Amino acid sequence: MMMEDVAVGPARLLSQPPAVTLAAHQQRFGDLPTAGGRDLIDDVGRAGLRGRGGARFPAARKLQAVAARRRPVVVVNGCEGEPASQKDKVLMTQAPHLVLDGAALAAEAVGTREVILCVERNRPTVVAALESAIAERVATGLDRVRFGIRQAPNRYVAGEESALIHWLNGGEAKPTLVPPRPFERGVDRRPTLVNNVETLAQMALIARYGAEWFRSVGTPDDPGTFLVTVSGAVARPGVYEVVGGTSLVSVIDGAGGTMAQIQALLIGGYFGTWIPAPVAQHEALDAPSLDWAGASLGCGVIAALPYAACGLVESARVTSWLAGQNAGQCGPCVNGLGAIAAGMARLVDGRDRDDTYRGLEQLMELVSGRGACRHPDGALRFVSSSLGVFGEHALHHDLYGPCAAHPPILPTPATGGWR
Ligand SMILES: Cc1cc2nc3c(=O)[nH]c(=O)nc-3n(C[C@H](O)[C@H](O)[C@H](O)COP(=O)(O)O)c2cc1C
Ligand code: SF4
Repeated sequence: MMMEDVAVGPARLLSQPPAVTLAAHQQRFGDLPTAGGRDLIDDVGRAGLRGRGGARFPAARKLQAVAARRRPVVVVNGCEGEPASQKDKVLMTQAPHLVLDGAALAAEAVGTREVILCVERNRPTVVAALESAIAERVATGLDRVRFGIRQAPNRYVAGEESALIHWLNGGEAKPTLVPPRPFERGVDRRPTLVNNVETLAQMALIARYGAEWFRSVGTPDDPGTFLVTVSGAVARPGVYEVVGGTSLVSVIDGAGGTMAQIQALLIGGYFGTWIPAPVAQHEALDAPSLDWAGASLGCGVIAALPYAACGLVESARVTSWLAGQNAGQCGPCVNGLGAIAAGMARLVDGRDRDDTYRGLEQLMELVSGRGACRHPDGALRFVSSSLGVFGEHALHHDLYGPCAAHPPILPTPATGGWR
């Protein structure tokens, strides 16, 4: 995907030209604020910041939970294993100091000097940007914290926080049964704050400009700006910074697309939800609006499916990929997702539609709520919305056979091992 970074709303995190060096960063944002750590937690709470890694967890509650414990560690989650998302890679590359500021401030707030930055393996540009930013900071004695970079396995579930911690502790990057939650016992059995890179960069802005400033754009439920990755049937796919509450029409317009050419939007990534374009016309990027459509912004993925592509084929391919991303630990996930993917493939082939539909419904009931992590439930949400939105395609395939081939819209990249 070609990456642009045109802001649809006010550019708070991303700027043109990007503030990559420490000098450019300080010129744009000023010095790193050094107010007492507890103030950051209050400010982040008043700002209403929610995590940007997908689950929208209130950021202040997590800071508080870790700050109340002894000898914590901060883990910066920059794994971004979601294939349709690029926002974290763009942020780390274009504004590395903002991420490091946020991590340093969060470390101070919870009472540690240890920060571990986790980036997916084989991302040399991201690692180079972080390494050079860290070197600049060390040379100027800017921080009291120590930053370390670790390159995590390329697997979808490796970025799940318990998987990441298990891997940092020397194991495979596979989710572990929780509790204990990371804030109780994480890296080296120490209380661990795991935050997404964008969450931390937003904290760096809140520390500088305050909670009122943060809330001055957006909606009460989704204050501030959000990074979204727009891909598919738009002229300028890329990472955009948008204000909470921005309409989906404006986002698509901003990326050079028109709703008239779009069949459906996938919102929130591969654990997300398809919204048909006629419904998406009326939706905005805020929780109540998306909730109404059964969706959530998740990690900020907005993928536009053109009319020429087949939603069923795209969905079946992603389902098969998701099934292959299971961590091989829980029966319902390993066998159930595999069988669901096979059912989706049968629908694409136009075979046994009624039986397959019934079988898929039964399988989804069996798998729902099982497994040690949210992987199976996330995959089920995607499959269920695919069947709801592209049901007519299944009928068409049954009657006339599969549609004409179209280049893939949603990427399904090869992934590596678990260590
Ligand atoms: C299968 C799976 C994969 C995940 N991958 C990522 C990821 O790549 N990056 C990320 O920040 N969060 C990821 N998460 C969410 C993390 O578990 C965790 O909630 C997040 O890092 C917390 O940061 P936040 O509170 O700042 O959002 C994933 C969750 C699941 C279930
Ligand atoms: S539910 Fe699936 S992905 Fe999650 S731990 Fe179990 S096997 Fe692994």
